[in-house]
Amino acid sequence: MGQTDRARPLHVACIMDGNGRWARRRGLPRTAGHTAGEENLAEIVRIAAKRDVGWLTVFGFSTENWVRPKAEVRHILGLHRRLFGRIEELNEHNVRVQWIGRPFDEPGSRTPVAVQRAIRQAIADTAHNDGMTLTVAFDYGSRAELARAAALARRDGAAVSEGAVASHLYDPSMPDVDLLIRTSGESRISNFLLWQIAGTQVCFTERSWPDLDAAEFDAALALVGDGA
Ligand code: FPP
Repeated sequence: MGQTDRARPLHVACIMDGNGRWARRRGLPRTAGHTAGEENLAEIVRIAAKRDVGWLTVFGFSTENWVRPKAEVRHILGLHRRLFGRIEELNEHNVRVQWIGRPFDEPGSRTPVAVQRAIRQAIADTAHNDGMTLTVAFDYGSRAELARAAALARRDGAAVSEGAVASHLYDPSMPDVDLLIRTSGESRISNFLLWQIAGTQVCFTERSWPDLDAAEFDAALALVGDGA
């Protein structure tokens, strides 16, 4: 399904849920589910880029995820380094990488330096691409993003208007989300992109994230058609 005739680029966001359950059903450790999740994300990026999706934003790690067992957090952080290290593939598909989340220099930031480096490197090494923008939300929470945006707008001294808040979001250039996909049968938003999803179509699917395939992705895309 081509999206090339759209007035503006299609923005798809994903809450990649169900890695743990995917692994449990196979008698595998949760970490194996996350590994499969990262691999499937690479596949979904490829599919989305082929479908002319303009923006793909994924919830890679939330501000709440730090409380998970240390070994699991370490594993997920390693997978982020792997994802941000897929430079050759990303360039091959003309994908530009972006990141949203708690700024590294802000009090409370827990992002290890190695992950910070991988994020910065991926952004720099893919900056020239003009196809799809892949934004990874890492150490991200939407309420924190909105509270910070309001505080910055207030600091500017002007009225705290919608425009002022929007201009202080982590990535002010990010367009509103057209389609939000959440896998694994949960119908919750989980503090993800609360501002950007005001008018979005939401697709909750029973599939676990590692099992989300091209057919299911296309079925979700069909919900927004060409006119959204
Ligand atoms: C939910 O699975 C997923 C996450 C904690 C975040 C997303 C992480 C991945 C897809 C793995 C690596 C991805 C990147 C971006 C490098 P869950 O553990 O909540 O699953 P469960 O609800 O079945 O336990």
